[in-house]
Amino acid sequence: MKTTNNYLVDHFTALKKYYTDLAVRLDLNQTPSIANYVNECVKKEHKWLKQFENDGLITVKNVVDKTKILDIKSEVEEFITERKHLNPIRKPQGKFVVPSDSKKATKEFLEDLTNLESKTPTVSIQDPLINLKGLFSLVFHDEIISKITAYFKTLPMLTFVKVVKHFPNDFQSSVNEWHVDGPPGSIGSSKLLKVIYYLDDINNLDEGPYCYIKGSHLDRMTYNKRSFSDNEINNYYPEEKIKQAYAQCGDVVFTRGELTHKAGKPITKPRTLIIVNYCIHEEYLDTKGLDFIVDKIKIKKQDVSKLKFQNLSDNLIKI
Ligand SMILES: [Fe+2]
Repeated sequence: MKTTNNYLVDHFTALKKYYTDLAVRLDLNQTPSIANYVNECVKKEHKWLKQFENDGLITVKNVVDKTKILDIKSEVEEFITERKHLNPIRKPQGKFVVPSDSKKATKEFLEDLTNLESKTPTVSIQDPLINLKGLFSLVFHDEIISKITAYFKTLPMLTFVKVVKHFPNDFQSSVNEWHVDGPPGSIGSSKLLKVIYYLDDINNLDEGPYCYIKGSHLDRMTYNKRSFSDNEINNYYPEEKIKQAYAQCGDVVFTRGELTHKAGKPITKPRTLIIVNYCIHEEYLDTKGLDFIVDKIKIKKQDVSKLKFQNLSDNLIKI
């Protein structure tokens, strides 16, 4: 059993790895065109960045054309209706789906996909950048890459893309519990920037907003563990810090893995969202000993050729 001190050492080891890898990535800024671009982003985004450093989450209104979001949504709906391009769906244990990197994760998957909405908390799209037409322009949107570049002070890489529909039912998954992404206790990077697009307008708690503790990246309850009960959160943080990110189609939520957060469980209607993580190194730091395979993100070669900087696709599998 690990002690608090060991967890703290794990935390700082992961942080050291982040800064070592960042130093390598900053070599990109030796190229004048990249240096100019990074400098422009830092200047342009300084207000956003200041607020992001303070609060840990910002919702920016109307970044993306709403029709683009709705086009993606109808494609997602079509795939779900036709049971096409879906990731395998892990069988719940009772009413709960444990995280895939947990030792307790079942390796059994649902075979009968009829009545999906009453058998699983979520369903997600396989290889979303290959299968969903409009997704490429969303994840490499100029305004989004500009903000992320300003944050990392160099060109980011895309490290995780998930398009997921949450059903209003009695099932819960690990994302519905308060938690922090990344180490200690996880193989994820200690610094990742997460961008969330809602494919539905989310205006109240029953609709399952992303929930977060404002500023908790600067005031973490403990490094002893990564997930927390509602009671622990309510006892530690003042009520005004416990927030929900309400947003409409076309808005973009920027947040960070170190912020304590959970996915609100929708009660009144299903909700679909796109989660995209950006980092300066591979998000999963050490996959040795894992009993699940970390899927590499696939992208079409013809899409990569449209990028302003090829390094934005450094860790992607080009097909
Ligand atoms: Fe998370």
